[in-house]
Amino acid sequence: MKTLHLVAVIIGVVGVLGVIGGLITWGVLASRDNSPPPPEIIPIDWWKHCVLYQIYPRSFKDSDGDGIGDLAGIMSELEHFVESGVDAIWMSPIFVSPMVDFGYDISDFYNIHHEYGTMEQFEELLARAHELGIKVLLDFVPNHASTEAQYFKDSEDGVPEYKDFFVWADGYPDPDNDTNMLPPSNWVSQFGGSAWEWSEKRQQFYLHQFAIQQADFNFRNQAVKDEMFNIMKFWLDKGADGFRVDALPYMIEADPECHEGRYPDDPLSGLAQFESHQLGYTIPLYTKDLIELYDVVYEWREFIDKYNEDNGGDTRVLFSEGYANISMTMLYYGNEDGAIGAHFPFNFDFITDVSAKSSARDFVYTILKWLTYMPHGATPNWQFGNHDNNRMPTRFRTNMVDGLNSLNQMLPGVTVTYQGEEIGMRDGYVSWEDTVDVEACNRGDEDTYQLYSRDPARTPYHWDNTTNAGFSTGNRTWLPVAEDFMEINLAKQKEDERSHYKVYLALTKLRKETTLSHGEYAIRALSDSTFYLVRYLRTFDTYILVFNVGEEADNVDLSRVPQMSLPATVYVSSIHSSRLPGSTLEDDQITLEAGEALILKCAPV
Ligand code: FRU
Ligand code: MG
Ligand code: CA
Repeated sequence: MKTLHLVAVIIGVVGVLGVIGGLITWGVLASRDNSPPPPEIIPIDWWKHCVLYQIYPRSFKDSDGDGIGDLAGIMSELEHFVESGVDAIWMSPIFVSPMVDFGYDISDFYNIHHEYGTMEQFEELLARAHELGIKVLLDFVPNHASTEAQYFKDSEDGVPEYKDFFVWADGYPDPDNDTNMLPPSNWVSQFGGSAWEWSEKRQQFYLHQFAIQQADFNFRNQAVKDEMFNIMKFWLDKGADGFRVDALPYMIEADPECHEGRYPDDPLSGLAQFESHQLGYTIPLYTKDLIELYDVVYEWREFIDKYNEDNGGDTRVLFSEGYANISMTMLYYGNEDGAIGAHFPFNFDFITDVSAKSSARDFVYTILKWLTYMPHGATPNWQFGNHDNNRMPTRFRTNMVDGLNSLNQMLPGVTVTYQGEEIGMRDGYVSWEDTVDVEACNRGDEDTYQLYSRDPARTPYHWDNTTNAGFSTGNRTWLPVAEDFMEINLAKQKEDERSHYKVYLALTKLRKETTLSHGEYAIRALSDSTFYLVRYLRTFDTYILVFNVGEEADNVDLSRVPQMSLPATVYVSSIHSSRLPGSTLEDDQITLEAGEALILKCAPV
C-alpha cells in the first residue's frame, strides 16, 4: 500500500512538473514568435534634443550697408533656419555697448544697440521667429558691465544705491613712487594685465576680470543679484525663450572678510614663460570657479522655473557658459544636495580636448568623459566652435568637416552649430592693421596677436559669391571677408550636388528620427584612427557613424560594430567619399579614406 502510494505521489509530482515545464516552454516559444513591442516613446521637451545655432550678429547679415550685421539681417534669414532644420538660435549680445569687447561690454542691459537695430525690430524678430517655430535665446552677461553703464558711473561717484555694485578696493602705497598706488592683489585679467584698475575719481581700484572697460559686478551685494532678476524678467516678458549665460566661472572672487580684510594673492604658477602681467603667471585660486557662484546659478534656475510655472507656454531655459574642469562643469547642472542649475552647461570638450592631432581613441575618451560624469537624466550637448575659438575646419582638417558635423548631430542631446560650420567656413585671415579684438590687441603685438585673436572666427558669413560674400552691400565690412568665399559659400553649396550644407541638411533631418531623439548609444574605437558611434532603439532603424579621423586610409572590420547588420544603406557620407548616399554596403571589410565618415542605416535590432 505504502509503496503504491509513493509511486502515485511521484507520478503526480512529475506530472505537475511536466505541465509547468510545458507551460514555461510554451511561454518562451510564444514570446520568441511575437517580436517585442516597440518601446514607449515619451515626448521630450523642445530644448532636450534641439539643433541650436549660434549667431554672431555683427557678422551674420548686414541689411543697411554699414558693414555691420544687424537684426533686420537676421530677420531676413529666418526662413533659412527653418529650411536648415535649426530649432533655436542664440545671439551673442545685441544690447547697447561701446563695443570694446563687441557687445560683451554692456552699457544698457535693457536696450538694443543702435548698430543692430531697435527694440521694435527685436520684437518683430521674436514674433516672426516664433511664428516659424524657432526659439530665440539671448546672451545674458552677468559678470560685468561696461564702465560706460550708468550703474558704474553712479558707483564711481559713490551714489549710495550703487556704491557697492562693483568690486572696489583700496590700493597700497607704492614704496618706490609716492604718486603711484599698487593694486589690492596680483590678480591677472583674462585679457592680460592687472585685473585691477585705478579710479582717480573714487581713489580706489575696481576689479575687471576681462577688459579694463568691463567692470566686475559685486555678487556679494543683494542689490546686484536683484538687478540680474530684473534684467532676465525684462527679456522674458518680451518673449525671449531663455539665455545663454556668459563667463560664469568668473562671477565671484575671494571674500576679503575671510582673508584678514585683504584680497588674497593668487598662487604663482611658477611657469617661467609668463611675466606678472600675463595670463598664466598665476593659478586662479581666488578668481575662478569659486563654489559660491553655483548658488547664484541655482537661484537663477529657481527663478526661471517659477517664471515658467507662472506664465505657462514653452519652457524657457538657461544654458551656461564657462570653461572649467569636468567636476566644476558638472556642478552647473546641479549638486548632490538636489539643487538644480542650468538646463545644461555648454560642453567645450571638442574645443579644448581634441584637435587635428587626436586619435579615434582620444575622441571616444572625450565623448565618454562628458557622458560618464553627467548626472543621471541630464541633457548632454556638443559643439565644435564659437566666437571665442578658431573655426572647426581650421582646428581640425578640412576633410573632417562632414564627419565632425555628423558626430555633433548624432550624439544624444543637443547639437550646437556655430555660424558657418554648416558650410565648413574656415578662419578668415585678419592682418594686424585690421585686428579689432580686444584680447588680441591687449595680449599680443604685431608678431604674436594671432595666438590670441578671436577675429578669424568672427569674419562675415559667406552667403554667396557676390561682393562681401553677400553679407553687406557696404564699401567695407567691420572685419574683412575671408578670401575663400568664392569656393565656400551657402548659395554654391545649395546648388552643388554634394556639399557640406547638403550633409548638414541630411543630418538635421536624421535627428528627427526617434532612434536619434530617444535611442541608446554605443561608441568605441575600432583602430587608432577610426571609431564608431551607434544609435539604436528597439524596433527602429539603427544608425551607425564610422569616422576615420586620421591622416591615412584605414581598413576596418565592421563586423566588430554592435547592432550592425548587412546589407546597410549609406545614409550620409562625407563629400569626398566614393560611397554615395543611398548606395548599399554589402561587405563588412571596408577602407575609409583619411577624414572619411559614413552614416549607415541598418535594420532595427
Ligand atoms: C566667453 C565670452 C567672451 C567675452 C567674455 C567676457 O568667454 O563670451 O567672448 O569676451 O566672455 O564677456
Ligand atoms: Mg548693418
Ligand atoms: Ca566677477
